[in-house]
Amino acid sequence: MTARNLANISEDLLEWYDSHARTLPWRNPPGEPLPDDPAWPYRVWLSEVMLQQTTVAAVKPYFEKFTSIWPTVDDLAQAGEDEVMAAWAGLGYYSRARNLVKCAREVAARGGFPETEAELLKLPGLGAYTAASVAAIAFGQRAVVVDANVERVVARLFAIEEPLPGARKTIRARAEQITQNARAGDFAQALMDLGSQICTTKAPRCLLCPISGHCEARVNDPERLPKKAAKKPKPERRGTAYWIERDNGAGQEVWLVIRPGKGMLGGMRALPDDGWSAREDGSGEAPLSGEMRNLGAVRHGFTHANLSLNVVALEGEPPGEGEWWPVEQIEEAGLPTLFAKAARLALAS
Ligand code: ADE
Repeated sequence: MTARNLANISEDLLEWYDSHARTLPWRNPPGEPLPDDPAWPYRVWLSEVMLQQTTVAAVKPYFEKFTSIWPTVDDLAQAGEDEVMAAWAGLGYYSRARNLVKCAREVAARGGFPETEAELLKLPGLGAYTAASVAAIAFGQRAVVVDANVERVVARLFAIEEPLPGARKTIRARAEQITQNARAGDFAQALMDLGSQICTTKAPRCLLCPISGHCEARVNDPERLPKKAAKKPKPERRGTAYWIERDNGAGQEVWLVIRPGKGMLGGMRALPDDGWSAREDGSGEAPLSGEMRNLGAVRHGFTHANLSLNVVALEGEPPGEGEWWPVEQIEEAGLPTLFAKAARLALAS
């Protein structure tokens, strides 16, 4: 494809975006100048962190909650890590929430977000994707923004047959070729919208695609791209969580702990457990003793493993540090999804 044709891709895509952009709470309407609002880069950064490995539909209520509790990066910088972790509960990938607070504190201390991709990349927890997307969307800087939607669009556009993840380098080089200087934020989001609305994983809507005339895969079953290398099956782990309840005279309470440090779900409130996450072999010897009643098991998929967590009701005094939490208010405890499932099972028993 010539440079002229490559530039046409961007023009055709932007023209489509002008009338088809999704309206999203963190988004500037297409073609508008960057908002003159000190909270603008904060909102873009927050949305991009939340949107990693997470759908727009799942992110929307969390974005509204976070920006109403912490409208600016300075507000978030002053929040306690535990408050932020609890507000993040249910969104998954909790290291993002820990890094969010760290990054907010650094940005507040330096008086605002840096505007270039290279400087953004130095902030804690900002990887290549977030640095590029914030540079483009918040500051209008040319940057090559590649998420899973963009990977799919580019792999089809240039009929890249090499499977992922090996194809990432080629995909990035191709994405670089179609990225122009103008309207950087709109272009990045236009590719994302095209990927999620038109160039979908299954049954792409090629007849409605504004760049199908440029697409090398169009005539040869675009749905088969991008190819993916066979994945290793995820290891299966087992563990046990304990439901320890007491009646304090005024109502029922359950014993909750804060999970330690940086490990799996670190810093999140949780039911006490047998330390399954620390054991590579996932063996499930229960370290707590007392009168026990098995309530069943819940399953949960993490990135690197699937977990089957037994839930056991335990009578007696809880060991170690923790707090008695009113069972009536369990929804407000900020339990991550795994432990929310376990709590629901215990309460249904
Ligand atoms: N996914 C990641 N960032 C996005 C954005 N800004 N708009 C839509 N989907 C996205």
